[in-house]
Amino acid sequence: MKDITKKYTNGEVTIVWKPDLCMHSAVCFKGLGEVFNPQKRPWITPEGSTTEKIITQVKKCPSGALSYYMNSAAPQNEIKVEAETIIETAPNGPLMVYGNVTVKDKSGTLTKKNNVTAFCRCGASQNKPYCDGSHKKIGFEG
Ligand code: FES
Repeated sequence: MKDITKKYTNGEVTIVWKPDLCMHSAVCFKGLGEVFNPQKRPWITPEGSTTEKIITQVKKCPSGALSYYMNSAAPQNEIKVEAETIIETAPNGPLMVYGNVTVKDKSGTLTKKNNVTAFCRCGASQNKPYCDGSHKKIGFEG
């Protein structure tokens, strides 16, 4: 699977979107529709709100598809969660892991994940071990 990354900025903060990680939770556009609107192109318009509101909303992204960095800082300085790891089962959806984790894939590649990571529980994801929203298409219950 391609590793696509798109960036959108208001000059102060840059929103980073990784569509392959998106689980289509709709949390972003329900929470801050003036910035995240899947009916528009581009679907992310950071100039629609304040930097503070954007950061607050991006931190709520359950899949980790959305992240951000301040333009005054290097991209690798993305905000990290300073807390113990919390694991939560989303009803009829993925296993949510809150915290900083390192995922080792079947080929042995290590990937660092920050904030929130959604792992597939339904088996239908095309981006395993991560959730890609396929659980909704197959009507996963559990
Ligand atoms: S749990 Fe979301 S794709 Fe499997």
